[in-house]
Amino acid sequence: MVKSYVDILRKTAAYRESRVLTSAIELDIFTQLGDKSLSADKLAHKTNTLRDGLEILLNALSGMGLLKKNNNLFSNTDLSLKYLNASSSESITNYLWLAAQNWNQWCDLTKVIQGKADKNKALGTENPELKKRFSLAVNERSLQVIPKLLQHIHVGSAKSLLDLGGGDGSYSFAILEKNPQLRVTIFDRPYMITAAMLRAFDKGVITKIKLVAGDFFKDDFGGPHDIVFLSNIIHIFGAAENKRLLEKITKALNAGGKLLIVDRFLEDDKTNPPEAAFFTVELFLRTDSGRCYSWSDVIHWLKAVGYSGFRCTRIDESAGMLDARMAS
Ligand SMILES: C[S@@+](CC[C@H](N)C(=O)[O-])C[C@H]1O[C@@H](n2cnc3c(N)ncnc32)[C@H](O)[C@@H]1O
Repeated sequence: MVKSYVDILRKTAAYRESRVLTSAIELDIFTQLGDKSLSADKLAHKTNTLRDGLEILLNALSGMGLLKKNNNLFSNTDLSLKYLNASSSESITNYLWLAAQNWNQWCDLTKVIQGKADKNKALGTENPELKKRFSLAVNERSLQVIPKLLQHIHVGSAKSLLDLGGGDGSYSFAILEKNPQLRVTIFDRPYMITAAMLRAFDKGVITKIKLVAGDFFKDDFGGPHDIVFLSNIIHIFGAAENKRLLEKITKALNAGGKLLIVDRFLEDDKTNPPEAAFFTVELFLRTDSGRCYSWSDVIHWLKAVGYSGFRCTRIDESAGMLDARMAS
């Protein structure tokens, strides 16, 4: 919250901290440091950068508390070693790298809101590096959310679950591990289904998972299933597309079946939580009609196609889950 003159100045200049951090990610500084202490000279050599520029960046990162500086040697903090070093199992480097790729789009915000710039500058979805990083980023983010989310997913006597837009399968695998009686279908675009297949083999769950490559708006969802899980999907689309998607899902659900929608839900006045309010600005910039929605927006759509028994659960500061039941 901005509460003072100083806060206003800090917020206005916050782009500097963001760019220092995302440049460090793009230059792979935290990974190159690993558990070592290195001079700016050594690190400039390893990262193929200008020594002076790098040292200035390293000092700024140290000032932010993301590196430690001792006797002109730089090293990771516990936090950066855990999250910003690509070798760590909890690394979010792909997620942050992807955020850095949005930088130029944010520069156009004023013009886009004035209607003077083209807003739909897709991030080159055919670019192979981007595809790979996107898939890894989805996994990194899900690792943080899944343990909290699982506490709120109760499958009861359900035997089948459809994970629509299930990405690389992270959520499906975690749900399956907790509920081994389930048979899970993951539906996604072909390149994500390939990623999910590789992971399913790796985890030894390929016989319990059905993988379906398709498009939400063109292909059949199969079923009927006892549960449909829809995580981080509705924000990609506008209201009209979401209504079509939710109506199509009703046909893929058994009577009395459950729909679980996970997303960055906004409170009804759409100003909070801040992470969702900012994410919706980003969606406005880079999608045709994507938005974060309030719980009431989605409940309204769901009521129109026959759902009831709504339950809204906050999972963390950004994610929430809306639980609804199809009429029996
Ligand atoms: C933001 S990711 C969410 C992945 C995962 N469910 C999660 O919560 O992390 C959106 C997923 O929807 C898939 N997707 C988007 N539009 C789609 C469409 N029209 N048909 C099929 N899959 C689609 C993407 O490929 C991607 O895997």
